[in-house]
Amino acid sequence: MDDTLKRDAAHAAVDRFVESGMTVGLGTGTTASWAVRRIGEKLTAGELWDIVGVPTSEQTAALAREAAIPRATLAEARPYITIDGADEISSTLDVVKGLGGALLREKIVAHSSENGLVIIADDSKLFDSLGEGPLPVEAEPFGWQATMGSLKKLGCEPSLRRVKTQPFVTDGGHYTIDCLFDGGIPEPKALEAEIKEIPGALECGLFVGLTKAAVVAGENGVEVIEAETR
Ligand code: A5P
Repeated sequence: MDDTLKRDAAHAAVDRFVESGMTVGLGTGTTASWAVRRIGEKLTAGELWDIVGVPTSEQTAALAREAAIPRATLAEARPYITIDGADEISSTLDVVKGLGGALLREKIVAHSSENGLVIIADDSKLFDSLGEGPLPVEAEPFGWQATMGSLKKLGCEPSLRRVKTQPFVTDGGHYTIDCLFDGGIPEPKALEAEIKEIPGALECGLFVGLTKAAVVAGENGVEVIEAETR
């Protein structure tokens, strides 16, 4: 699939939800990169002004710099909204994130956003319920084998994410354990709570109750699904 639908969703979300004067959380991944570039283009064209971006990864910070978007950390500002991609979106707008490797920082920025998270995606990411693919869990490297064993006890098949032979390392210096749940994830909130009880599991890719709206592009156009109207 080419990137046209990702671009359409990202552009529609920026055009609808980003206003001059806002602080915006800038997501990570191929879809979110379209949103970052769109904000940059609108700033350059004078269609937006006084925007501050809070990047969710080093990769996004570099992209925002290229796009000449003024940047801040959470020490300096709080986003009004965050715009970010997703790996899976359920019918209740809960999402799985993290295949791009930035879930902990993404969740911190989304959770700190006054008006929540705007998810952007092509319609291949829509599912009735979550758990079709792996659920990423960001883990402390110390004792990751024990953390992986605890995750397995929750009923999944966990695997350490690697780049060639070496563990993949996040911006925060952590590992990622991808957990495949045979039978899906019928109770995301409960699973999130169970994962949080495992000491080495720093955060999981379940974003429950954080989504304000999903902007989803398909062959027939872009649909905005608002949390209130779902
Ligand atoms: C990054 O850690 C992820 O949460 C991404 O937002 C998610 O994987 C979607 O990425 P794409 O837009 O590249 O599909």
